[in-house]
Amino acid sequence: MSEHIHKVTEEWAKRALIDAKTYQEWYAQSVTDPDTFWGEHGKRIDWFKPYTKVKDTSFAPGNVFIRWFEDGTLNVAHNCIDRHLPHRANQTAIIWEGDDPSESKHITYQELHDRVGELANVLRNRGVEKGDRVTLYLPMIPEAAYAMLACARIGAVHTIVFAGFSPDSLASRIEDAGSKFVITADEGLRGGRKVPLKANVDAALKRVAGVDHVLVVRRTGGDVDMEPGRDVWYHEAIEQVTTEAPAVEVNAEDPLFILYTSGSTGKPKGVLHTTGGYLVYASMTHQYVFDYQEGDVYWCTADVGWVTGHTYIVYGPLANGATTLMFEGVPTYPDISRFWQVVDKHKVNIFYTAPTAIRSLMQAGEEPVKKTSRASLRLLGSVGEPINPEVWEWYRRVVGDDRTPIVDTWWQTETGGFLITPLPGAIDLKPGSATLPFFGVKPAIVDSEGKVLEGPAEGNLVITDSWPGQMRSIYGDHKRFEETYFATYPGSYFTGDGARRDADGYYWITGRVDDVINVSGHRMGTAEVESALVAHPKVSEAAVVGYPHDIKGQGIYAYVTLMEGEEPSDELRKELVAWVRREIGPIASPDLIQFAPGLPKTRSGKIMRRILRKIAEDEFGNLGDTSTLADPSVVDDLVDNRQNRH
Ligand code: WT7
Repeated sequence: MSEHIHKVTEEWAKRALIDAKTYQEWYAQSVTDPDTFWGEHGKRIDWFKPYTKVKDTSFAPGNVFIRWFEDGTLNVAHNCIDRHLPHRANQTAIIWEGDDPSESKHITYQELHDRVGELANVLRNRGVEKGDRVTLYLPMIPEAAYAMLACARIGAVHTIVFAGFSPDSLASRIEDAGSKFVITADEGLRGGRKVPLKANVDAALKRVAGVDHVLVVRRTGGDVDMEPGRDVWYHEAIEQVTTEAPAVEVNAEDPLFILYTSGSTGKPKGVLHTTGGYLVYASMTHQYVFDYQEGDVYWCTADVGWVTGHTYIVYGPLANGATTLMFEGVPTYPDISRFWQVVDKHKVNIFYTAPTAIRSLMQAGEEPVKKTSRASLRLLGSVGEPINPEVWEWYRRVVGDDRTPIVDTWWQTETGGFLITPLPGAIDLKPGSATLPFFGVKPAIVDSEGKVLEGPAEGNLVITDSWPGQMRSIYGDHKRFEETYFATYPGSYFTGDGARRDADGYYWITGRVDDVINVSGHRMGTAEVESALVAHPKVSEAAVVGYPHDIKGQGIYAYVTLMEGEEPSDELRKELVAWVRREIGPIASPDLIQFAPGLPKTRSGKIMRRILRKIAEDEFGNLGDTSTLADPSVVDDLVDNRQNRH
């Protein structure tokens, strides 16, 4: 497909906060003199005690530390709420759109203040102190945002577990974080179906000790067990307290949240983000990349269980005094026009979603989109995985009526905010490219030996210097932090992604180069799925790889070797899929399971995933060198089996 460039229109260059000239000037300063640049832009948020030091960071092997604005003090809830009250008390902070279209509400900044204050008091009265971890396992209801901000208000550290995760996954995250307090709901509601959140918490707490309090939001009114002394209803607890709670002064480098994400090993990593640099970066990227201006209605369709929800539903928008929409439901309920009905209902100006959602809506054709108005839309965004140029063009033409720019934002849980992204008034767009680095970001492309490649090149993507939103550590394991991100290419942060840079300096993300796969924009470690599979009594060995999937981007392909005497069957296949769902959660369900009498291994016993990936991709002619395998005939068997399934 030929490269189609969408130039910045005159109208956009004029109206946008950042034009091409400003982008170039600011970018140049941000990378040559980060202290001056960030010293200036750090002032976009309120500090109780202003910082005098700006950047203090090192990517040096064995001595990685990242500190920004380190002697400043602030409070995130103060920045997201209190400082707006003098002029925005009656402005809508959050528009909540329920799963059922008949349910929605507007929450003003004043109401947000009151709800967050009372919850902060509930937490404090039950002994939650600065630095304590609080686990949130909540559906997309306003209480999720209240809980995040209430933690921030008292200096507690929230750790959200996506409500689609299993009791086991929840238990291991509660344990790793050492949380004593859990906030959940009776049930979640998605696409008309109920999710038993409180029952999942009960199951998780049978496996992990140390949780003294469970606060339960009544969402559906469904039946739940309440354990006396431990479990308390949210609506009863807030009746006992006032809405005034002091926003405690915390240091810029005090933790704000921990969020677990998948890596190459079986154990999820607790990504630790701190306060000052994160908030500066979240608010600045949100404002400039979405060109957020006074009065705009902004909607990010992510879930607060992922980093996108943290930075671009809650912290970035609220720090900017924005109106942010929070959606409980799914794109296909009650029907496939839901996204666009919500856009029209609330006159959304800026809409941000994932390619997987667009791809699945594309299947139903243009009519479900075109029958809605969408006249309010000015800008579209994409995140989570590479967006195919065809999908990009459809998104712009059909959803954006050929008039909206699309910002394809590349970033990660670890980066806190956007690293490579267009600015709609400054950067010409190439469908499929995340375009150019944001202020302060220094990307580089390296080959497998770590040699930095100049000019047009393809290789592994690293970032050579720190930016304020960067994660600070893996919770409780700084050594693992250094080894995971800074050991592969010493002196640089390794993203785990591959990328190509073209002659214009534009970046094209090609996908993960490690054992992480991206399923519907959700990150999954192949090792996690493998551990779940081998925990099944009939499974002796498992190897999991990604393969191209029309809707999900990547699907989960599992090769499974059974225990002696066990027979492969479709029934067992179904049992294994259900097993993985139960062990990890529905997002980890294998799409394909191939029973394999043996897996291709080197003589030292290492599984050769490269070959398994090729077979899963149907690239049989291109298996590469198989001569180092202990038993090369295993491969023929796998290929035969795969072909028989077509
Ligand atoms: C991985 C990070 C923070 C965004 C939500 C996912 C992939 C993310 C893009 C994009 C191509 C993308 C990368 C990255 N990714 N955005 N615009 N284009 N790939 O966060 O779960 O931490 O996953 O998502 O592979 O490494 P995450």
